[in-house]
Amino acid sequence: MIVPVMLVVVFDLCLPAQTPPNAATTAMQVHTDLNRLMRGLLYPASNVVFSAQNDNPADVKRIPGRDPAMATDPLTSTFGGWQAVENAALVLSESANLLLIPGRNCANGLPVPVNNPDWVKLVQELRDAGMNAYQAAQSKNQDKMVEAADTLSAACAACHRKWREKPRLADRCK
Ligand code: HEC
Repeated sequence: MIVPVMLVVVFDLCLPAQTPPNAATTAMQVHTDLNRLMRGLLYPASNVVFSAQNDNPADVKRIPGRDPAMATDPLTSTFGGWQAVENAALVLSESANLLLIPGRNCANGLPVPVNNPDWVKLVQELRDAGMNAYQAAQSKNQDKMVEAADTLSAACAACHRKWREKPRLADRCK
């Protein structure tokens, strides 16, 4: 019993002192293109927010026989109901940060125009719309959710009009 403990101690002493954080380990990293980020993060989160217009999140039931800890729909999960709407709204505001980090491409290979003032402004509209939806969700008022959802979908659409809706894929993000 004692021997393995000793070994661990000796091994520990051989390790270098804790490595200080450096740019290589702490820098933000891009893992996907803009289209997939939209499909994987903004799209599902916004659907949770949009759903609260018609379906009262307080009435959303967990799925019988399914473990809420394993739910694929945040609304029916352990952190479901209005809390799921709040969380989705916050994630949308946080996603604004991901839309601004350098080094990401659009699906056509062009860089996301993070230095273009119009891009920055439209990202800010998304950020604000997310926080607005968060406040509406906190009020648990579905009329407020209808307004907040309008503002949110307008923020998505404004950017899509300018950067996505192009007859040719090659012209996106230009
Ligand atoms: C600041 C600009 C911007 C904002 C804000 C924005 N998008 Fe996008 N979105 C784009 C661009 C540009 C593309 C195309 C990306 C590409 O081709 O790589 C896109 C693509 C998408 C796609 C993929 C569509 C497809 O057919 O593959 C979805 C889904 C999407 N966005 C949803 C949303 C939703 C929902 C919101 C709002 C909550 C939103 N987007 C906000 C710029 C934006």
